[in-house]
Amino acid sequence: MATMGCTVWLTGLSGAGKSTLAIALVDELHGAGHRAELLDGDELRAHMSAGLGFSHADRDVNVLRAGHVARLLSRNGVVAVVAMISPYAATRDRVRQWHRADRTPFVEVHVSTPLGVCRARDPKGLYAKQANGLVTMLSGVDDPYESPRRPALAVDTSREPLATSLARLRAVVDASRTGRRPG
Ligand SMILES: Nc1ncnc2c1ncn2[C@@H]1O[C@H](COP(=O)(O)OP(=O)(O)O)[C@@H](O)[C@H]1O
Ligand SMILES: [Mg+2]
Repeated sequence: MATMGCTVWLTGLSGAGKSTLAIALVDELHGAGHRAELLDGDELRAHMSAGLGFSHADRDVNVLRAGHVARLLSRNGVVAVVAMISPYAATRDRVRQWHRADRTPFVEVHVSTPLGVCRARDPKGLYAKQANGLVTMLSGVDDPYESPRRPALAVDTSREPLATSLARLRAVVDASRTGRRPG
């Protein structure tokens, strides 16, 4: 049985389905007796990163804090599941390097649900607010979003049911923890 920790890093636009997938993965891992912890961007902004805004610099601080905690957890046998827009590739790559230094797997997952679908879902009303000039700096709209170039997995939640995404994700996670590639 896999005992090695790892970090599962879910990046994608607001509304792509990162939190939904992350919660489902953590629940499933707990059910199977694994240690797993969720680091969700919205939740972190309420405490560990309270006061940060959405400038490039503040987003980087937020992502690097989460990445540091994920590193500490994952190198101690926990599956750290991070759900954050984390729009900058170079910042995600810094976190990846920290994990590499520890020889801990870093599984980058692009929750690649297209912008049009995210905009139609708009669970927080952010896309509508941006269109009406009430918010700005929305990733992928009037702020950058840099897709991963070589993610371990891409998940478009508009093209398959959650159970299918979860099963594919679980296979990649299990493989990373045992050093095997999923079949
Ligand atoms: N696989 C899916 N199929 C259909 N709708 C989904 C799926 N995953 C998430 N959603 C819906 O999309 C919206 C955004 O999901 P959420 O997980 O909060 O996204 P994010 O954390 O990436 O902003 C929510 O309304 C959620 O119910
Ligand atoms: Mg979320």
